[in-house]
Amino acid sequence: MAEPVKAGRALELRPLRLRDARALFALVDANRNRLRRWLPWPEANRSLQDSRAYILRVRAQAKLGAALPFGLWWKGSLVGVAGFVWIDPANRSAAIGYWLTQDVEGRGLMTAAVSALLRHGFRVLKLNRIEIRAGVRNRRSRAIPERLGFRHEGTLRQAERLADRYVDHAVYGLLAGEWKP
Ligand SMILES: CC(C)(COP(=O)(O)OP(=O)(O)OC[C@H]1O[C@@H](n2cnc3c(N)ncnc32)[C@H](O)[C@@H]1OP(=O)(O)O)[C@@H](O)C(=O)NCCC(=O)NCCS
Repeated sequence: MAEPVKAGRALELRPLRLRDARALFALVDANRNRLRRWLPWPEANRSLQDSRAYILRVRAQAKLGAALPFGLWWKGSLVGVAGFVWIDPANRSAAIGYWLTQDVEGRGLMTAAVSALLRHGFRVLKLNRIEIRAGVRNRRSRAIPERLGFRHEGTLRQAERLADRYVDHAVYGLLAGEWKP
C-alpha cells in the first residue's frame, strides 16, 4: 500500500485502513442523499459492515496495483475519499474519482487533493494518462478537471446508472506530456 500523500499544510491523503471504517460510514451516512445524486454506491452502503467490506475490497485491489483510494484527512478529520478508482498498468492509464463531505465544500480541498494525485500518478506510478469522468450536469465535479488543465474529450451517453436515472458522463483526460506541475 502506498505512503500518505501530502496535499497541503493541513490536507493529507492516507491509504484507507480498516480502522477508518467507523469514520467513513458516519461520513457516508451524513451525506447519503447528496452523494446518491451523482454516485451509485451509497445505495449499497447501508451499515458499518458495508464500509468495512468496501475498505477490505479496495485494499485488496490496491495490493494488486488495480486501484489506489485514499481517505482525505483535513485538520485531523476524515472529510472524503479521493484516489485512483482503476489503474490499467499495461496502458499506463488510470481514472480518478472523489467525494467530499458537504461541510468542507467550496474551499479548494478537492482541487488540491486531485493535484497531489496527479503528481503521485505521473511521478510515482509513472502513468501516461489520467482520466476523470463526471456527470454532465455535475458542475462542481466538472470544475475540478477544468481547473487543473484537463482536456474535455467528449461525452459518454447514459454511462452510469444511478438510483433513479442514467447519467451522461463528460470525459476529461490529461497526458503526462501535458501536465504542468
Ligand atoms: C465534487 C466535489 C468533490 C467538489 O467539491 P468542491 O468543494 O466544489 O471542490 P474543491 O474542494 O476543489 O473546491 C472548489 C471550490 O472552492 C473554491 N476555492 C476556494 N479556494 C480555492 C483554491 N485555493 N483552489 C481552488 N478552489 C478554491 C472554488 O472557487 C470552488 O468554489 P465555487 O464552486 O463555489 O466557486 C463535491 O461537490 C462532492 O463531493 N460532490 C458530491 C459527490 C460527487 O459528485 N463526486 C464526483 C462524482 S464524478
